[in-house]
Parts: sequence; C-alpha cells; structure tokens
Amino acid sequence: MTPKTQLARYGLFDARVPRYTSYPTATHFSQATRPRDFTAWIQAIPPGSEISLYAHVPFCRRLCWFCACRTQGTQSDAPVRAYVDTLLAEIALLRAALPEGVRLSRIHWGGGTPTLLAPDLVTRLAEAMFALAPTTDRAEFSVEIDPNEIDTARLDALAAAGMNRASIGVQDFDPDIQKAIGREQRFEVTEAVVMDLRDRGIRSLNTDILYGLPFQTPVKITESVQKLLSLQPDRVALYGYAHVPWMARRQNLIPNEALPTPEARLDLFETARRLFRWDNYAEIGIDHFAHQGDGLAVAAAERRLHRNFQGYTDDSATVLIGLGASAISRFPQGYAQNASGTAQYQKAIRAGGFATVRGHDFAGDDAMRARMIEMIMCDFAVDGRELVRVFKVPEARITALFRAAQEQFGGMVELDSGALSFRIPPDARPLTRMIARAFDRYEAPAGSHSVAT
Ligand SMILES: C[S@@+](CC[C@H](N)C(=O)[O-])C[C@H]1O[C@@H](n2cnc3c(N)ncnc32)[C@H](O)[C@@H]1O
Ligand code: SF4
Repeated sequence: MTPKTQLARYGLFDARVPRYTSYPTATHFSQATRPRDFTAWIQAIPPGSEISLYAHVPFCRRLCWFCACRTQGTQSDAPVRAYVDTLLAEIALLRAALPEGVRLSRIHWGGGTPTLLAPDLVTRLAEAMFALAPTTDRAEFSVEIDPNEIDTARLDALAAAGMNRASIGVQDFDPDIQKAIGREQRFEVTEAVVMDLRDRGIRSLNTDILYGLPFQTPVKITESVQKLLSLQPDRVALYGYAHVPWMARRQNLIPNEALPTPEARLDLFETARRLFRWDNYAEIGIDHFAHQGDGLAVAAAERRLHRNFQGYTDDSATVLIGLGASAISRFPQGYAQNASGTAQYQKAIRAGGFATVRGHDFAGDDAMRARMIEMIMCDFAVDGRELVRVFKVPEARITALFRAAQEQFGGMVELDSGALSFRIPPDARPLTRMIARAFDRYEAPAGSHSVAT
C-alpha cells in the first residue's frame, strides 16, 4: 500500500470529492431542463431499445440519524397511498409518451423505504411498471429492504410481484455504533429477513454496510464483517459514511468527536476489504464486493460494468427513467430530475405534466467525459480507443487529457500513449475519485468542491 501521507498529498482525505454516480454530478444540474425536454427524450428512444426504471419511495417509519437519503418520516399510511396514486399517474404519462417496441431491462425500488408499502400498493405499483413494456430475458426487479420494516405479507407481495433481487440495509452490527447512528437493528432481525428472502427464491442478495461510523474501530468492523459473511451475501456495498450535517440535518445528532479521522477511515476500509478478499469475494470498483460468478463480478471481469445512481450495475440499458420525488433519469441526451419535495412533485403530476425541474443537457464533450469517468470508476482504466471510435474525437485530444491528469498525479497513474490507455495501478486505487475528478470540467479546483452523491 502506498504510504498514507503520499495518498493524503493527492487529496485522499477530502471527503467532498464526488462519488461520480453521474457526470456531471447532480450539484451541477441547472433549471434549464424542463418537462418538455424529458418528454422529447422519452419520445426519441429508438424502438428496440432496452430501458430501466427506478421508483423512489421517500418515506420511512423511523428516520435513522446517519441517513443522507431523500426521505421523510410518516407513521400514517395516508400520505404513502396518495404518493403511490401519483406514481401511478406518472406511469400513465410515461406510457403515453413511450415509443412502441422498447423492453424493460431493470426495475429498482429505492428510497426511503419501499418496504413500508402495504401489500396492495406493492402489487399495484409493480403491475403498472411491468405493464409499461415487455421485459428482456434477463430482466431484474430489485428492491431496497429495511429489515426492521418488512413482514410476511409484504415479502409475499414482493415475491409475487416478481422481485428477484433484494438489497438489505445493514450499516453495522455493533450495538454501540447502532445507538450512535440512530439505527438499532439486531443481527437476528437481519438474519431472519435473509432467510425469509431465500425461502421465497430470491437468490441474489446485496447488503449495504458502512465504514467511517462513530466509534468504529478495526476490531469492531472485523466483527461486523464476520457476522455479515456468515449470511453469505452475494454482493456487498461497503460505503464510506458521508457526514454532511449541513445537508442532512439529522446527522447533527451524531457526535463529531466520535467520528474516525480520515486516516482511520482508510484503515477501516482496508480491514473490511481484506476480509472480503480472504473470503474470495471479487472486488468491484471502489466500494463493492461480489461472489465470484455473480453477475456483477462477471461484468467487472469482462469490463461490462456501468455506474448509475444506484451505484455499480451490469445493466447495459442506455436509458434509465426515474419515477417519483427527486428521481433522476438518464438519457443519451442528458439528465432530468424530478422535483425533490413530495408536495411539489405531486402537484406537477396531478396537473397532468411531468415533474422535471432540473437536469443537464449534454453539450460539448460531456458525453465523452461521462464515459471516461465511468471507465475510471468501474475499470480503473480508460480505453482511449473506445472513446475515439464512439465519440469521433482525435487521438491527440485524448492524449492531452491523459497527460493533464498525469501531471496532476505524477507517478501514481500509468499512461501508454501508443495503446491510448490510462490506468490506475492497485496501490493508487484509494485515489480513484480524485483521479476521476481530473477529467471533470465542471468541478472547481481543489478546495471549493461540493459534496455530490
Ligand atoms: C435508502 S437507504 C436504505 C434503504 C432502507 N430504507 C434501509 O434503511 O435499509 C440506501 C443506503 O444508503 C446508504 N446511506 C444512507 N446514508 C448514508 C450516508 N450518510 N453515507 C453513506 N451511505 C449512506 C446506506 O448504506 C443505506 O443502506
Ligand atoms: S437508512 Fe433507510 S430507514 Fe433509515 S432513514 Fe435512511 S432510508 Fe429511512
């Protein structure tokens, strides 16, 4: 491992560097993108294309203190029912605009907590989404599951609706850490949900855990990872805890002084990473692990990995349509984001139009840079020849971009001008997001970045 001081010199410990789930990142979206752009981009989807759908459920029964997701607490079902009605109306608008001949590649429900939907809402929402278009042979329907907010009836409804992948929120199993982050969840509760899902034929389980939590130590994260490994998840997302109390005010309940230093965060990540590697998990991109043979591991080995708002994916659909408050859609032409506030989103849909309020229309070399950054985040390497072929840019332009990044990162990156390739060697991988930023023309110079997810 490259010494920490050397990594620090290049900005490793700057928590504000984007995670590049999109390029440009959502903080650079403008209000110029309107519902008419969204409608035009949908109508322009070529027949025969594969598309994916995301539905956002911005409600939770409890609000965990650590959580930076766009969600709101509710104990009653009335706002959830009204929201699903609006989602159904948005799906009807989409159905009217969607060209014939497209097929569904992926459906994902996230939040918030999609598992708080009552069984009849699960059924109605899933049926409406599946009715939009026929599915591909390899179609997947995945749902984010909060083990504290699910029961037999909802599990049965999800399985009957076609769910074939699940993503379970764990975060950490240590009771003291759970108290400090305002999310108590006994190991037995998580274990029971894993068994319930497997009993219903769900063969592909992802789990989310976090490093960089208050009071977390290498010993504690070792214990948590070992417990997690006993459940044999097919995939693991090991996210760095993003402490952004100015954006997620509930994080003010988390004691700052209990947070590990940036150097300790790296140790926590490395400790967990080694455990997954010893257990023969393949390392996927900057923060995922997958069983050898899992679709994500195979895609990574074959360089077919992609990055979208849900993280890493082996989905090759070029269109992702986001439904619901704050949801972001991606098209070859750009991004479109729905109104974040539930009320504002519902008002727009009830008025009979889409709820797009911001986004980004690709211009100049945006699409090429987006692909470059995606390659860095997925493959730790850029294949310049693909860029020349797909985006019709001169080789000299690609070489100039590679050289500029190399100047910034010196010997930490490898450049082969003959093969037109740029590579981040394993020792420098903790710097991946920083190196990706070197290709981001929207990010201001070091020191004035905003957090982007
Ligand atoms: C929408 S949430 C989880 C879904 C479900 N409501 C649950 O609680 O299990 C998706 C994931 O985002 C991650 N997440 C939320 N806040 C985060 C933060 N501040 N830093 C890093 N990851 C975060 C967590 O790992 C979480 O499991
Ligand atoms: S972690 Fe899940 S349950 Fe907790 S507040 Fe976030 S979305 Fe809601």
